[in-house]
Amino acid sequence: MSSYAQHIKTVTERFDQALADTGYESTLIYAGQPRVAFLDDNPGTFKVNPLFKYWIPVLESPKSAIFYRKGSGKPTVYLFQARDFWHSQAQISEEDWQQHVELKIIDDLSQLTDDLGDALAASAFLGEDFAQPVADWNVKARNPQALIDHLHFHRAVKTDWEVENLRQANLLAAKGHLAAKEAFLGGKSELEIHSDYLAAMNFRESQVPYNSIVALNDHSAILHYDVYDVTPPKQRLSFLIDAGSLYKGYCADITRSYASEAGFYADLVNAMDTAQQELLSEIKPGINYYDLHVSMHLKVAAILEQFDFINISAQEAYDKGITSAFMPHGLGHFIGLQVHDVGGFLQDDKGNSYERSERHPFLRLLRDIEVGQVFTIEPGLYVVDQLLEEFADSKDINWTMVDKLRPYGGVRIEDSIVVGANGDNENLTRNAFKALGGE
Ligand code: GLY
Ligand code: MN
Ligand code: MN
Repeated sequence: MSSYAQHIKTVTERFDQALADTGYESTLIYAGQPRVAFLDDNPGTFKVNPLFKYWIPVLESPKSAIFYRKGSGKPTVYLFQARDFWHSQAQISEEDWQQHVELKIIDDLSQLTDDLGDALAASAFLGEDFAQPVADWNVKARNPQALIDHLHFHRAVKTDWEVENLRQANLLAAKGHLAAKEAFLGGKSELEIHSDYLAAMNFRESQVPYNSIVALNDHSAILHYDVYDVTPPKQRLSFLIDAGSLYKGYCADITRSYASEAGFYADLVNAMDTAQQELLSEIKPGINYYDLHVSMHLKVAAILEQFDFINISAQEAYDKGITSAFMPHGLGHFIGLQVHDVGGFLQDDKGNSYERSERHPFLRLLRDIEVGQVFTIEPGLYVVDQLLEEFADSKDINWTMVDKLRPYGGVRIEDSIVVGANGDNENLTRNAFKALGGE
């Protein structure tokens, strides 16, 4: 059996169970369609419904839909191919997925509703429904939370086919990252670095899964910096790039930080790299991701102590909340069909959730670690003045060192990890860099 055949079998079984547990006969998963800008006739970028691409790796066929009847074992794909001489139509080549579905080509959504007849009224609709005729379809329920939670909970454990796609996505992104590093060392601007990143992958900007963060110097302290200066800075100190890729609908999300020369910032990057690798070695089935997040904070605290950013012990810095001012985001998140993949707060497939942590409100993953999960590990340390304001009068912080780091912005290192048994994990990101002769 091919790995895709095994994947679609797993997806089928997961839908069978989810439909049975939540009381639906069938589901209709709508791919979606592009939104048009206000008072305009230009469509925006189309991003397919993740639950659609969970079944088949078709990303560019808006208005398509998948119908699955509980227990039938085989979905029907209504593939929309418009009769339209204005636009090119996505070419769907012969692929493995077509052997595992019933394929019906349509050029009008009335063909789908005619074909389904009464079955539509017993179906749970999953997707966006802002446009006609979809908004008026007579379905049993629209995006029922119980069904979505059930599906989202189980999506955390990836099939072999999904892991292979994530491997390929990391290889693509690593290629882009190596080109971006060259561009940085060559003195290019942020915009030029990003152009080189995309060119190395043969991507257009609309194809990357999130806005790349391409940040020189102090820009790297802006956590979602994505405006890109068009001229290089006078002095090149540091470079942080957080940029991803997509393969068959699966995402890569990689961050690297580089110094322009040996010295204080290069040492900080090395210290963070060591801390990140220590965290990777702590990943084991059965432990809770929250505990890993706390372990990361203690390692960041140790770096703050080692580099004299604080005048107190590492443990005290954590206890007083100082590490959160330097490292405000979560240690990481699930990754898969979505960059921030779903289900990180779910305790079970009944929709029970973990209570969000007040101490660490931006952590997106609170679940126990299981074999087959894929998540990122992305510790960082930044000078974010807005967060440091709370400690402005504190002698616990060595402000001279804060001033020294400020022009460099910050540092983050991010890899994606597949959890194996007994700590036998796969680092998708470092393996990709190694395969390309990088590090
Ligand atoms: N690039 C978004 C993140 O790292 O979560
Ligand atoms: Mn991430
Ligand atoms: Mn990232």
